[in-house]
Amino acid sequence: MNEIKGSILFDRSKINGRVRELADEISRDYEGKDLVIVAILKGAFIFLADLTRNLSIPHVVDFARLASYGSGTESTGIVEIKKDIEVPVHGRDVLIIEDIVDTGITIAFFAERLRKRNPRSLRSCTLLDKKERRQTDFQPDYVGFNVEKGFIVGYGLDYDDQYRCLPDIYALDEAAYSGVKSDS
Ligand code: PRP
Repeated sequence: MNEIKGSILFDRSKINGRVRELADEISRDYEGKDLVIVAILKGAFIFLADLTRNLSIPHVVDFARLASYGSGTESTGIVEIKKDIEVPVHGRDVLIIEDIVDTGITIAFFAERLRKRNPRSLRSCTLLDKKERRQTDFQPDYVGFNVEKGFIVGYGLDYDDQYRCLPDIYALDEAAYSGVKSDS
């Protein structure tokens, strides 16, 4: 992995505290419900792993793999489904998990797709909500942190598939990506 050129935005301790708070809130809200958690890969895998282990209520986990950024930093606007979910969601309480909502194109597309399968309820939880480049009116129900702008990596988020494994969340220095583009 290349040495990172950026600064820490949220360190592991802050992330851990916020993930626990979100898990407590979700556990309260979904008490007695038939919770199906659907994480969008790849970016959400670390957030999902920490969140799910802090939930105090029964739930099942499934995954979808969507992609719209390729190796660049600007959304192509076209969401590709690389892998769909496998569990039935009809009549169940579905919570979509994202690492980041940026333009909103990915989650708006996926939520619409799931809504057609008639879940009893459909909500979303994102660790990071970055509104600077939002192109839809999608509003996540649970938000870990609001982020103003920049290209964010670490804790599951990548730049050209690098840096996902970093335990802290960083904002890349502009010089590190401006020759290519600016992401999620
Ligand atoms: C990233 C991120 C979200 C999406 C958010 O995924 O994980 O799914 O972009 O961006 P948007 O709100 O502008 O649609 P990406 O397509 O880069 O794939 P990845 O999760 O495999 O990195």
